[in-house]
Amino acid sequence: MKHILLLNGPNLNLLGQREPEVYGSQTLAELETAVTAYGAELGIEVTCLQHNHEGVLIDWVQGAPARADGLIFNPGAYAHYSYALRDAIAAIAPFSVVEVHLSDISAREEFRHTSVTAPVCAAVFAGKGQQSYRDALNFLKAL
Ligand code: DQA
Repeated sequence: MKHILLLNGPNLNLLGQREPEVYGSQTLAELETAVTAYGAELGIEVTCLQHNHEGVLIDWVQGAPARADGLIFNPGAYAHYSYALRDAIAAIAPFSVVEVHLSDISAREEFRHTSVTAPVCAAVFAGKGQQSYRDALNFLKAL
């Protein structure tokens, strides 16, 4: 794994101001800088993208194999109901997609307990804030 795409979905552009008691005080830019720096330590180039729109995220998932060796994806709330994103991830198999969440979705509201995207991902790391993203990088490096 030499080059990994980091894709953050809806509302993650508001990190730092959005429900800091759940998601922490780090901004998306700070998170991306930290994850990119950690990738560099591992010898992996990380390209960071964020979008709120499902269709754009689908386009980026579909395009990931042409751009990178793996994808780290925080689908935000789309994880809980977007069969279209699930199909996009399944469509690029066996390309490796790792799902991440900052919060522990299994310990929050009932509707967050299900991820429809997780079953088609190679792994899921959740509940550890920025460390979820680092764990995803380590997982992809070990493949
Ligand atoms: C999230 C968890 C989702 O349930 C929520 O909708 C988000 C963020 C997380 O990173 O913890 O937007 O994906």
